[in-house]
Amino acid sequence: MKVTVIGAGYVGLSTGLVLASLGNKVYFVDVDKEKLESLKEGKPPFYEPHVEDLLKRTLKEKRVIFTTDYSEAIPLSDVVFICVGTPLRVSGEADTRQVMSAVRDISKHLGGKTVSIVIKSTVPVGTAREVEKQINKDHYGNFIVLSNPEFLREGHAIEDTFKPDRIVIGANDKKAIEHLIKLYDPIIKQTFKRVISDRLDREIPVVVTTNESAELIKYAANAFLATKISFINEIANIAENVGADITDVAFGIGLDPRIGNLFLKAGLGWGGSCFPKDLKALHQMVGNSGYLPGLLKAVIKVNDEQRFRFLQKIVKVFGDGLRNKKIAVLGIAFKAGTDDLRNSPGVEIVKQLVSLGAKISIYDPLALENARKTLPESVGLCDSIEKAVEKTDAIIITTEAQEFKTMNLEKLGKLVREKIIFDGRNIISNPKGWDYWGVGR
Ligand code: UGA
Repeated sequence: MKVTVIGAGYVGLSTGLVLASLGNKVYFVDVDKEKLESLKEGKPPFYEPHVEDLLKRTLKEKRVIFTTDYSEAIPLSDVVFICVGTPLRVSGEADTRQVMSAVRDISKHLGGKTVSIVIKSTVPVGTAREVEKQINKDHYGNFIVLSNPEFLREGHAIEDTFKPDRIVIGANDKKAIEHLIKLYDPIIKQTFKRVISDRLDREIPVVVTTNESAELIKYAANAFLATKISFINEIANIAENVGADITDVAFGIGLDPRIGNLFLKAGLGWGGSCFPKDLKALHQMVGNSGYLPGLLKAVIKVNDEQRFRFLQKIVKVFGDGLRNKKIAVLGIAFKAGTDDLRNSPGVEIVKQLVSLGAKISIYDPLALENARKTLPESVGLCDSIEKAVEKTDAIIITTEAQEFKTMNLEKLGKLVREKIIFDGRNIISNPKGWDYWGVGR
C-alpha cells in the first residue's frame, strides 16, 4: 500500500519505517526541513535502536520518501497517519493545533478516492470527531477518520511496533477498519520476515471500538502505568518510615498475577515526553467535564514530589555544606536506553544541586550530546563513569543503565573522595563499604 506519515518523531518514524520494511511505500511529511535532510542521508534525529538500520535499508530499497510537501504524498496515499506532537498548553490541556493544521493540509489534497486518516498522536477524547467536522466544513474529498493510538516505549520503539501487545482501532466504518487491519496484517499474524528479532508465536489481539473509546484507551493505559509507579513510590516512602525494604515488598506483591511485577520499581518517579504530559492532559480534560479526578491528582502529586524527596536526602546528608561539593551524576536521560531528556528527574536534580552551589560532573551512555544543550555550562560532561566520579564527594544514580548496575564499586571507591552513593533507581544490590541511600530501603 501507499502510506503517508505526518510527523517524523518517535511514533511517526517507527510506524513508517516498520510499514516500509513490510513492503509498503511510505511518504514522510514533516515541517522540519533540516530533520528531513538528515533523514534522507540515513541519519535519524534521535537515538533509538534499529531506527538507523531500518532507515538505511528502506532508503536503499526506495520505499521511503521525505518531503515537506503534502501534495507530493496525499494524492498517492490510501492511508494517512497523523503522528504530530500534542504538547501541553499552559492550561494543562493537550494542544491539538499541530493535528488540526495537518488535517487542514491533508484535506486540501483529498480527491475522488476515500482516504483513511488515522490519528496516532495522543489526543483528547473527541478529537477524531473534531477532525471529521473540520474536513466536512471544508468540503474536501472523501475520507474516514480512525483512531489508532500508539503504545510503543522509547528505547524499544521498533521492537514494540513489530510486536505490539495489541492494536486498538476506533472508527465507525467497517471498510476502513478492514483496510487498516489489512495494512497491519503481517504484524497481527506475525508473518513478517525476521528483521530485528524473532516473531511472536501468537497473533496480536485487535481491539475494534469507537473513536472515543480508542482515544480514552491510550490515556487510561498511560494513567494506569503511572499510577502503578506512584503507588509503589508511596509504599517506598512508607517503607522508609517503618524500616521495610521496598524491593522485597514489590517482589512480594508482584507475584500475585492480579497485581503483576512490572512497573513496580520505586525510584525517582516517571519522566519523559509521555506520562507527565498525558497525565496532566487527562486530569485537565476530565476536570473540564465537571468530574473531579481525585486519584489522578494524587498520582501526579506523588510523582512531582518524589524527585524532591530524593533531593532532600542529599541535602540532609551534606547539611548546609553542598557548596563546592563535587558530585557525580550517573544518568541524565529520563530513563535508560534513550537520549531523551524531556522531563528527566536527573536534569531537575542537577539543576537544583547547581543552584545549591555543588560542582557536578555527569556521565550518561547515550545522552551527553543532548545534556550539553540543556544543562548549565558549569556542569562537566564526562565520557566514562570513572572520569565522572574522580575525586567526588558523592555519586548519584538516576537511571537504570546496565553499565551502572554492573559497575565495580571497589575500583570506583579508590577514585572518589567520599564513598557515598545516592541510588535513585535501587540498582545497587551490594553497597558494602559505602554510605548508601536508596529509595524505600
Ligand atoms: C510510555 C509507555 O510505557 C508507552 O506504552 C507509551 O506508548 C508511551 O509512554 C507514550 O505514551 O508514548 P516511555 O515514556 O517510553 O513509554 O517510558 P516508560 O518505559 O514507560 O517509562 C516511563 C517512566 O517511568 C520513566 O521515567 C521510567 O524510569 C519510569 N518507571 C518505569 C519507573 O519509575 N518505575 C517503573 O517500574 C517503570
